[in-house]
Order: sequence, then structure tokens, then C-alpha cells
Amino acid sequence: MGMYLLLLVAGVCWGQYNPNTVPKRTSIVHLFEWRWQDIAEECERYLAPNGFGGVQISPPNENVIITDPQQPWWERYQPVSYKLCTRSGNETEFRDMVTRCNNVGVHIYVDAVINHMCGANAGAGDHATCGSYFNAKTEDFPAVPYSVWDFNDHKCKSRSGNIENYHDISQVRDCRLVSLLDLALDREHVRSRVAAYLNRLIGLGVAGFRIDAAKHMWPADVKAILDKLEDLNTQWFPAGTKPFIYQEVIDLGGEPIKGSEYFGNGRVTEFKYGAKLGTVLRKWDGEKMAYLKNWGEGWGFMPSDRALVFVDNHDNQRGHGAGGASILTFWDTRLYKMAVGFMLAHPYGFTRVMSSFRWPRYFQNGKDVNDWYGPPSNADGSTKAVTINADTTCGNDWVCEHRWRQIRNMVIFRNVVDGEPFSNWWDNGSNQVAFGRGNKGFIIFNNDDWSLNVSLQTGLPAGTYCDIISGQKEGDFCTAVEVHVAADGMANFLIGNEDQDPFIAIHVDAKL
Ligand SMILES: *[C@@H]1O[C@H](CO)[C@@H](O)[C@H](O)[C@H]1NC(C)=O
Ligand SMILES: *[C@@H]1O[C@H](CO)[C@@H](O)[C@H](O)[C@H]1NC(C)=O
Ligand SMILES: *[C@@H]1O[C@H](CO)[C@@H](O)[C@H](O)[C@H]1NC(C)=O
Repeated sequence: MGMYLLLLVAGVCWGQYNPNTVPKRTSIVHLFEWRWQDIAEECERYLAPNGFGGVQISPPNENVIITDPQQPWWERYQPVSYKLCTRSGNETEFRDMVTRCNNVGVHIYVDAVINHMCGANAGAGDHATCGSYFNAKTEDFPAVPYSVWDFNDHKCKSRSGNIENYHDISQVRDCRLVSLLDLALDREHVRSRVAAYLNRLIGLGVAGFRIDAAKHMWPADVKAILDKLEDLNTQWFPAGTKPFIYQEVIDLGGEPIKGSEYFGNGRVTEFKYGAKLGTVLRKWDGEKMAYLKNWGEGWGFMPSDRALVFVDNHDNQRGHGAGGASILTFWDTRLYKMAVGFMLAHPYGFTRVMSSFRWPRYFQNGKDVNDWYGPPSNADGSTKAVTINADTTCGNDWVCEHRWRQIRNMVIFRNVVDGEPFSNWWDNGSNQVAFGRGNKGFIIFNNDDWSLNVSLQTGLPAGTYCDIISGQKEGDFCTAVEVHVAADGMANFLIGNEDQDPFIAIHVDAKL
């Protein structure tokens, strides 16, 4: 009995850290602002066949429609109700997406915006994506319902009512984040409305949640809501499975609120990861790839089994959020592929790949004045479909980084080497580095300004392997560089410093 209770308690403790992906699918992709019908198609035609574990979707609940500027991406972060209609699609389409993705083993992770409602200046009326009436001035959201009592105004001690000082913990959690009406998550009514929303999504088959703006909520309030959540839908998940939880906490050090305060609730986004990796690959601040030998906890990051990691996200790829100029994005194609390749090869953390839309980036005085642009859209404001070109890239200004050969093949690499130790590190004291994952895979980078020609221990069984970066194995044929591993595991690598992609990756499923 004692043992049984102990196991039960332990089970409750572990559940929320497990990504709930099907075995050997080790990454998710954020299909930022995609329509539900396009995601359903992508799960079936691309993500499942290529071993992606899941999709982080944009917030599915009703948001305010902002016209100045014209329907920015951030209007999705201004809730009006928990009804499921947005420019990504309606409830019917949402159900269809979750069902079709789950049926091919690709799970759905919802971006849950529960810290706040819309901005204080959003006006009054029914200019919301399901047409629900609301009044931001009187803090009235009858479609939930929330009223003035459900907000934190009485608790906030800043002069403006907004967060003014990130060194004041109470302000960060009780005042308005950039004017967004701050929900009183200590109230039972608010907790139960939020939990009802999340439980409805669980019932429809979602596998977990990104908790938006978690830093702006008290960890105990988040916990009180999570404690109300049901187990996942047994149509697709084993009985007793808890939703995967990853909380957006921007902690680059230097502020009193720490990511570790949230470990009791689930995983936490490790923002130092992309900021540092970008700095290393750009060779800023005297950084070199050789220093990546102890990447992970050795760099002061949170424990690997608590970390959700990414090179860039929808905020910091356009200068919002955290990380600053060092963040690598699809705009920095060559270094970006190396960064994502490094992330997917390295065992640290649970990995999320970014998939973006292009916008007319335009810098004035160092700031992108078009950082607000919403997704590619038609004249009536509806989001454009994700079209697929003959060469498998995407059209209509969808970037589809997850379909870039180098990134997609590294998602597969990570699945192949899952559970294997970090091994056979080599570096030249500069920006040429290599490492393996047990006897399943090996990767080598040349980010120096001179070419690389070395023989290294790969740890792999003897044979001829096909590089999955410059091409890939197709049937018995390799469209790329071939790597010959000798009986003792040694192989020679040549990488020019001007190669389009100055890295090589091989794994046992790409052996000829
Ligand atoms: C949802 O959207 C689809 C596609 O636009 C449409 O056919 C359907 O009628 C909508 N359903 C509801 C309940 O609005
Ligand atoms: C690595 O960098 C060093 C300088 O630190 C250089 O001398 C060497 O040629 C480079 N390449 C290899 C394979 O060691
Ligand atoms: C690479 O190094 C090996 C051994 O030092 C040498 O035989 C070979 O010619 C070199 N290849 C190139 C392209 O420099």
C-alpha cells in the first residue's frame, strides 16, 4: 500500500515533464500562425513520415481583432474568450486537425494564453474573432464570463498599472504586461474558467500546453490550475497520462524571478540556449565552438530534463522577448542551419523547431519597424494557405524551416540517436568541433575561416555512410558526400570553409 501510494505520487510528479510524443519522435515544431486545415494536411503528408513528434499551434481561443496596426501577430495574445475560433480556423476545423494529427502519431500542443485578456485600450464591441461582445475599459468579458472582480488591479502597486520594474516580483506578476488586463489567478472563479478551457482542449485530444507568460503568474497559481486538469484522452494516450507542460519564463539571469521556481509545474523554456548558441556561432564576445564541449548544464542552463530548447521563437526572431541581436533566424540561413543542426544532435533538453512566415523586415535606427506583421494574408484579412511547391518548399511566404533538408534530416538524426550518450568530442581549439551519440550518429562542424581535413573516431560501425546535410540516402544511393568509417571507427572528414553548409552528419539509418 505504501509503495503503491509512493508510485502514484511519483507518477503525478513526473507526468508533466514527459512530452507525450510517440516513442522515437523526439522534437516538436511550432507552426506559427498556420491554419488548422494546413496543419492537418502537414501532419499527414510531411510531419508523420519524417518523424516529427508534434506541433505547437498558435492560440486557438477567441482574440481581439486589432486594426492599427492591421491584424498583427500579437493580436493572438489578446484573448476575448475561450471559444475556439481564430484566423487559424473554427472549432470544427480544430477538432479535425487534432484528430487527424493524432491518428498519424503527431500530437498537438496548445499555446495557452491564461495570464491576461486583451489590452486595456482594446475598446468595446464585438471586434473579436468569434464576434463576442467585450468591454476592455470596464473589464467585462461576458463570453467567459469575467468581470472587473476577476482582474488584479487592486493588487498592482505600480503607478501606471503596468509592469514598470522587473526587479519587483509583485509588479511582474500582479501588474499589466504591456497593458494586457491581468487576470486574478488567485480567484477560484478564474482558475475554474481557465481549467475548463484547458480541459475542453484535453477532451478534444491535445497532448499538452505551452503556458504563455508564465513568469507573469505566481507559480502556485499556475499549479492550482494544473491540479484541476484531467488526464489525456484515452482514444490516443494511455490511461493516466498527464498533459505535457512547458512554461514560458524568460530568465537570462539578472532578474529576481528564476525559471527554477516553475520546475514543480513542468518544463520551462531555456532562453539562454538560443541567445548563447547565436553568440557562439556568430563568434561574438570571443566565443568559439570549442567552448561547446560542456554545452548544457555546464553553461549554467537548467537541468536537461526540465528544459524546452529552441534556437529562436516567434518573439525573439523579430526582436521581441529575449535574446537580442545574437538570436539566429531563417534570415541568417547558413548559421541558422548549423545552430539547429547542433541543437538537434546534442542530447540537452527537449527540442522545438521553429517554422515561420516571411515579413517585410525593415530596420530603422536598429529596430525592425515591421516587427508587428501578421501572417501572409488575403485582402479580406484571412490567412493565406500554405502551398507546397514542386521542390517540397512552401509558397505564399511561408518559410517552412522544418522542411529544409538539413533541418528535417537532423530531426530524423535526433530520433535515430535517441537515448545514446554524448561521445567522442573533438575540437581544434577554435570553431571546428565534432561529437557522436554513442554508436548511432556523428556530426562535425567547420565554422572557422579555413578548411578542415581530419581523421576522427566516430564510434560508428564500419561502413559507408551518406551525409544527411549535403544530401541524403535514397534507396541504395547517396545524393551527397559519402563518409567511409573504417573497422576501428575512424573516418576522414573534409569540410571547406566556404561550403554552403559547413557541417556533415551521419547516422546508422543512413548507412549504404
Ligand atoms: C468552419 O469552417 C469551415 C471552413 O471554412 C466551414 O465550412 C464551416 O461551416 C465552419 N463551421 C462552423 C461551425 O462555423
Ligand atoms: C583548427 O584551428 C587551429 C588553430 O586553433 C589550426 O591550427 C588548425 O589547422 C585547425 N584545424 C584543425 C583540423 O586542427
Ligand atoms: C587531407 O589530409 C590527408 C592526410 O593528412 C592527406 O593525405 C589529404 O591529401 C588531405 N586532403 C586534402 C583535400 O587536403
